[in-house]
Amino acid sequence: MIGDLYDEALRGAAGVEIEHADGRCRPLPMQDWLALRRGDAGLLDRCTGATLDVGSGPGRLTVALARRGIPVLGIDVAERAVALTIEAGGPALCRDVFGRVPGTGRWRTVLLADGNIGIGGDPAALLRRVLALLGPGGRVLAEVEPPGAPSWTEPLRLRSGRAVGEWFPWAHVSADGVPVLAAACRAAVAEQWQEADRWFVALRPGFAKAGRASLKSDRHHRHPQSLPQLHLDE
Ligand SMILES: C[S@@+](CC[C@H](N)C(=O)[O-])C[C@H]1O[C@@H](n2cnc3c(N)ncnc32)[C@H](O)[C@@H]1O
Repeated sequence: MIGDLYDEALRGAAGVEIEHADGRCRPLPMQDWLALRRGDAGLLDRCTGATLDVGSGPGRLTVALARRGIPVLGIDVAERAVALTIEAGGPALCRDVFGRVPGTGRWRTVLLADGNIGIGGDPAALLRRVLALLGPGGRVLAEVEPPGAPSWTEPLRLRSGRAVGEWFPWAHVSADGVPVLAAACRAAVAEQWQEADRWFVALRPGFAKAGRASLKSDRHHRHPQSLPQLHLDE
């Protein structure tokens, strides 16, 4: 994902594709990332309190949340993506999610949209990392693949007619693979939903305690005024 070809695509270059390890290629879905699309609404509605959009790309979700008055920060390793987000009116920083992240331990919502649970190719490592970014009562909202899809990691690279990028690892996690992943990370599935043809889960730290857990989460939804203030010092 990272690299000159992603930068080119973000600048509007046509013909950038994602190549899979088996040689299959598909167009990089830039249009999906540049404007809100079906399935985004439910994700945005569930962002309560200070929200960190991890791998925010050109920032459609970051910008939409800022417009709703939600304290939000997008982080992305691609400088051009961060610049586009800022130009569009969303706060964003060029940061690696595995590096120093502002507000660590205080985020109410961490977003892993557009399959970003795949970042780094090790979903357990990523989930543990983002769980550590949360504050009390926080949740990770992740977009996953449909039930029945395989959960696995593969190398991907970007290519165009002119250039080929470096391979990078990317993980795929299906909706029915989430409970095992969550348990491995000492997390619980608080909610799962489908909107349009997209699948999402909400995860929170700690093992599932059915009834009490959902009541607690509902209480936070009803009292947004109790959310901690967001300070972006590191
Ligand atoms: C599938 S795209 C997501 C697009 C984005 N959610 C949007 O709304 O446009 C994945 C994004 O994750 C970013 N990314 C990849 N590795 C990252 C890392 N370690 N930390 C932060 N961002 C990362 C990429 O630069 C890319 O913008």
